[in-house]
Amino acid sequence: MTQDEMKLAVAQAAVAHIQGKLGKDSIVGVGTGSTANFFIDELAKIKHLFDGAVASSEATAERLKGHGITVYDMNSVDQMEVYVDGADEFDGRMNLVKGGGGALTREKIVAAVAKEFVCIVDASKQVDLLGAFPLPVEVIPMARSQVAREMVKLDCQPVYREGFVTDNGNIILDLHGLEVEQPKELEAHLNNIVGVVTNGLFAQRGADIVLMGTPDGVVEITV
Ligand code: 5RP
Repeated sequence: MTQDEMKLAVAQAAVAHIQGKLGKDSIVGVGTGSTANFFIDELAKIKHLFDGAVASSEATAERLKGHGITVYDMNSVDQMEVYVDGADEFDGRMNLVKGGGGALTREKIVAAVAKEFVCIVDASKQVDLLGAFPLPVEVIPMARSQVAREMVKLDCQPVYREGFVTDNGNIILDLHGLEVEQPKELEAHLNNIVGVVTNGLFAQRGADIVLMGTPDGVVEITV
């Protein structure tokens, strides 16, 4: 099975997982990235079963609209049945690293509102310890150097993501060389640094269920 075939398989599994939970008024939160794109294309096949979606990025909003799915502003939604999104790393204990595509802040906001967070990954994303994938941190542009100096104190190497601006108009520092022993604590610590908007650790609000594509089929992981 190719990686794309595994992504398609988890996207289909996610649709099967959420289908029975959706009603005419339901709103689906939708993530960002190549796995999320497979999900959007599968979700379009059941668009008659729910009201609309909230997108975690402009790119996702465009793809949803392209399928004729209504996209709501987050501020007009007070209840969301489910949020479905990919991840860059998953540690087997429902903690994630996200933000490879730079959409981490909106992803975290949508995940916070959803009743259930369904994470869809292929097997290459599973790790014992988070941190091999450089941890994205969204930063207010004028705080870039100051935040980078604070990051160096954590024994990691912050790398400015050249030429990239988030949907919120901010920059990304990718933290290389971290070994994330305590994801919840590190998530809170990084978010406390002045100038940080948010970081890509999803531990305080991790996934509720992970659907992982493997060469032998989709594995469902919950804790
Ligand atoms: C975007 C994300 C994505 O979920 C993450 O980068 C995984 O993407 P892909 O499915 O393309 O591997 O967090 O900000």
